[in-house]
Amino acid sequence: MARHIGILTSGGDCPGLNAAIRGTGKAISEAGMDLIGFRDGFRGLVHDRTFTLDQHLLSGILTLGGTILGTSRDKPHKMPIGDKVMDMTRVIVETYRKHNLDALVCIGGGGTQKNAYRLLKAGLNIVTMPKTIDNDIAHTDMTIGFDTALGIAVEAIDRLHSTATSHHRIIVVEVMGHRAGWLALGAGMAGGADIILIPEIAYDIQKVANAINDRTHAGKRFSIVVVAEGAMSKDDAKIISLLLREKADKKSDVARISEKLNQFHQAHVNHTMNLTSQLEKLTGLESRLTILGHLQRGGTPSAADRILATNLGTVCATLLKKKEYGVMISVRGNTLVPVNLKDVAGKKKLVPRDHPWIESAKLVGTCFGD
Ligand code: F6P
Repeated sequence: MARHIGILTSGGDCPGLNAAIRGTGKAISEAGMDLIGFRDGFRGLVHDRTFTLDQHLLSGILTLGGTILGTSRDKPHKMPIGDKVMDMTRVIVETYRKHNLDALVCIGGGGTQKNAYRLLKAGLNIVTMPKTIDNDIAHTDMTIGFDTALGIAVEAIDRLHSTATSHHRIIVVEVMGHRAGWLALGAGMAGGADIILIPEIAYDIQKVANAINDRTHAGKRFSIVVVAEGAMSKDDAKIISLLLREKADKKSDVARISEKLNQFHQAHVNHTMNLTSQLEKLTGLESRLTILGHLQRGGTPSAADRILATNLGTVCATLLKKKEYGVMISVRGNTLVPVNLKDVAGKKKLVPRDHPWIESAKLVGTCFGD
């Protein structure tokens, strides 16, 4: 049986991380193992910043937002150290050995799964759990944090409905999700949005404006437009796919194209603001923009996230007891199953065009701008 376990949270925080740390810690202790926490993601292993997660520390954190361990987006192989960026994999392996760890538990999103896989290849025993409000990790139906963020976004849309109605305005709501549309799609559906724009379906601005004008002609005097932060017009989607195709070409100048892609994504930050003013011009209706941003990552986790995180933590302890490593614990319907980290690393779960949520939304008249 494994005895000494390390744990860290990495990537963007979200509600439910503490519930997962608590679930893992309590079940690990029941099984006779001990747990040390590494602070601020993989950086904690580089600088050997730890604390012992005893029963006292694990108590009272189930409902707490954020992560008591702290987090960062630092990657083991590209870690900013002073004014340099260095590969710190070897140092991480040394810290792991110094603490006589039998395994390291990494709770994180897509980037974390990739980094954890790197450490697995460097010889560490790894078990991971999926967390991200984006719900875009491959091979899992659900991630810690998604349900809470969805609830927050839906509540915001509900509140925006009444002010949109009173002022007869278009209210555009930008929802997080990185390059995936799960959060915008779910929040848009549950919030009864009239238009939902997601990265997986490139939109035509004129079609969006037409849908709003149709509502006006039908006597509806307001519209709610939910926009995923990664949503793109058809023109922008063409530019991106050209650049990606060029990048994939073996003869291409990868650095130049990566720089171009970078510039594109930086400019995209103002996308929803521009969309809002374009809609105002095209429809003649007063428009306002609300960006929900990091509100979606804050506060107490929903009941569903607490249950998911606790279950993931206890399954994690069971796997560690059996010395089953190299896996991410994934959600498949009502069950939790280990999947090979190698199959998860570097992949993304986007919304399929034929997903039932899209079909239902279209059947109740929601416009996707396509
Ligand atoms: O991955 C979670 C997420 O909130 C994304 O939805 C968003 O694009 C990103 O993190 C924001 O990251 P940061 O907190 O580093 O600005």
